[in-house]
Amino acid sequence: MSNHPLSVTLETPQTGKYEQPTGLFINNEFVKGVDGKTFETINPSTEKVIGAVHEATEKDVDIAVSVARKTFETTWRQVTPDQRGRYLVNLADLFEKHLDQLAAIESLDNGKAFSMAKVDVGMCAGCLRYYGGWADKIEGKVIDTNPDTFSYTKQEPIGVCGQIIPWNFPLLMWAWKIGPAIACGNTIVLKTAEQTPLSGLFAAKLVKEAGFPPGVINILSGFGKTAGAAISSHMDIDKVAFTGSTVVGRQIMKAAAGSNLKKVTLELGGKSPNIIFNDANIENAISWVNFGIFFNHGQCCCAGSRIYVQEGIYDKFVEAFKKRAQANKVGDPFAADTFQGPQVSQLQYDRIMGYIDAGKKEGAKVEIGGERHGKEGYFIQPTIFSNVSEDMKIMQEEIFGPVCSIAKFKTEEDAIRLGNATTYGLASAVHTSNLNTAIRVSNALRAGTVWVNQYNMLHHTLPFGGFKESGIGRELGEAALANYTQTKTVSIRLGDALFG
Ligand code: NAI
Ligand code: MG
Repeated sequence: MSNHPLSVTLETPQTGKYEQPTGLFINNEFVKGVDGKTFETINPSTEKVIGAVHEATEKDVDIAVSVARKTFETTWRQVTPDQRGRYLVNLADLFEKHLDQLAAIESLDNGKAFSMAKVDVGMCAGCLRYYGGWADKIEGKVIDTNPDTFSYTKQEPIGVCGQIIPWNFPLLMWAWKIGPAIACGNTIVLKTAEQTPLSGLFAAKLVKEAGFPPGVINILSGFGKTAGAAISSHMDIDKVAFTGSTVVGRQIMKAAAGSNLKKVTLELGGKSPNIIFNDANIENAISWVNFGIFFNHGQCCCAGSRIYVQEGIYDKFVEAFKKRAQANKVGDPFAADTFQGPQVSQLQYDRIMGYIDAGKKEGAKVEIGGERHGKEGYFIQPTIFSNVSEDMKIMQEEIFGPVCSIAKFKTEEDAIRLGNATTYGLASAVHTSNLNTAIRVSNALRAGTVWVNQYNMLHHTLPFGGFKESGIGRELGEAALANYTQTKTVSIRLGDALFG
């Protein structure tokens, strides 16, 4: 058994010393893993170890699942929908109460700018409270078939939900997954990403404080190949929800098919087009294009990484966009004016630099950036490529870093064709002052979200998810309830008519 403690004192530049839980959160208690393993998490700004957390393996997944199963079949089913909603609202309140602390942990472990992390935590609270409101509004229908029967449907919870989340928005993905699953009456075994285990564990402490009964929400730190794979192939998990890479998304679907055919929702990658017409307000468009790709250091599934500009404004746009991107402050996430922090890990840093090299080798022109920023930490300069062609690797594959490509188009038809020239279909945007153009292009783009004259504006009321290879199912809004309920039909014969 590991002698690593279940809580350690850590420090953030913003909030000073605090108590960080390190255990696996099962049945409302922090515990050690069965195998006694721990793993370290890194501060990507300094490349130094922050501390270690306990690691879940297959055995711990089994324990968490049996707790979640028992809770689902017994106590949790007795809790009224109204009360489920109250727990979520309590949790939202606690997120707001600990907003600075949660945001500081996020910046420490993930590297995102503290100012942006605070927005994430505020959005978590918004999402949890919104789904708290849904908990007692999940309704079935009465369906009239004939005078001899009375038939109705119920929207029942699916059961034990496995949830696997990534590192780019550790807390926001936590809230997006937990909110609707709880509103619908499920129990949860959630695995955080191995790069960013800390904020999810601090939030687990708040789960208990919010009053949730033991066993409803279980949070595990661990790796994909072990704990993650154990979730997707588990015979007693009824549903798996995943956000992450398309490669792993495929594996999860296969594992679900190969085990108990658990229900699957996937939120995967993207290569989203950002289209700017001649008649756009250029200054506005540039600020949204800049935010669209460089927000969260380009580590967004919906990042606007392919920028198509109409030929009439192309030269002017490129010059102004370069200036704008060069003004983005890159550096210490805790500095007040920082916009872009480090990439999350050495691996992600190497992947992104690999794409930058591929772009250079294939003949794209580096307009700005293309190099490491600074000497320590996984920082990469904001990078813009021009002179790109559609078949280049940097135009086809998700880079997930502060790197974009900019290309010219002539007509609206060209813009639509180019916008759709990808296997992905998560997000897209069109910038124009002509309402007709905006609506025509929005209708033609094959993507789950189209932003007009803005970018990245997610809201907990608006469904979000992928067309094509960007995913299955929708998160947020009323649409997410469909991921966590199943329809039961009850049909009652009236009177005592016999069959036949
Ligand atoms: P990943 O897909 O490997 O990791 C995401 C989550 O899946 C983590 O919790 C991980 O532990 C888990 N996981 C990994 N392998 C698993 C398996 N075999 N079974 C079950 N769970 C597993 O993503 P990674 O390696 O961190 O990033 C690689 C690329 O994925 C990025 O460069 C980016 O293109 C994409 N990505 C997309 C995200 C999105 O928001 N859609 C988020 C993170 C990464
Ligand atoms: Mg980390």
